Amino acid sequence: MQFFIDTANLKEIKEAYDLGILDGVTTNPSLMAKEGISGKENILNHYKAICNLVDDKVSAEVIATDLEGILKEGKELAKIDDKIVVKVPMIKDGVKAIKKFSAEGIRTNCTLVFSPGQAILAAKAGASYVSPFIGRLDDIAQDGLELIAQMRLIYNNFNFETEILAASIRHTMHLIKCAEIGADVVTCPLSVITSLLKHPLTDSGLEKFLADHKKANG
Ligand code: E4P
Repeated sequence: MQFFIDTANLKEIKEAYDLGILDGVTTNPSLMAKEGISGKENILNHYKAICNLVDDKVSAEVIATDLEGILKEGKELAKIDDKIVVKVPMIKDGVKAIKKFSAEGIRTNCTLVFSPGQAILAAKAGASYVSPFIGRLDDIAQDGLELIAQMRLIYNNFNFETEILAASIRHTMHLIKCAEIGADVVTCPLSVITSLLKHPLTDSGLEKFLADHKKANG
């Protein structure tokens, strides 16, 4: 299972990378805006800075929504660094663009996926990754994890090579359930990754070990 961090914050990316468990990064226009990054040059430079921090797989999202625009923007993003994965929304022209990118060897992440039908289209078009948004489905009282399970079954049935990149992960149980179901990748905020470290029995156990060692050794 691969771990991606879902942020455009360089400090958080470095912290996750330094843990030694990071396989990639996902960003989106909202996350870039949150960091105060605006203007084409600044945005491209920020993606480059992210690429410099990690080994591979940095999702950079296009803003265009028409085929020509998506292709132009996606190629510009792909040129930044070999680590870039072009993130394309699940819309009609997005699917067409994914097919073309795939034929040209440009890796893609099909984003904003909320149904098994959309996931089938993304895989048929040749997306490298598909991003179902679990938390946003839960927000509207639909079961986000059920979508991951349906996608796993469908992709297995047909040996689709597209990787399931579970996104919009809000807490550790989302992540654990995705691991059980067999999502290929999870992308989540740093807080979810660091929460995995915590267990009260680890803390009390370590405290006791250290106290006993001190008693015995002075
Ligand atoms: C995925 O690539 C998205 O950036 C992200 O996971 C969206 O999560 P949110 O619903 O918490 O904004």
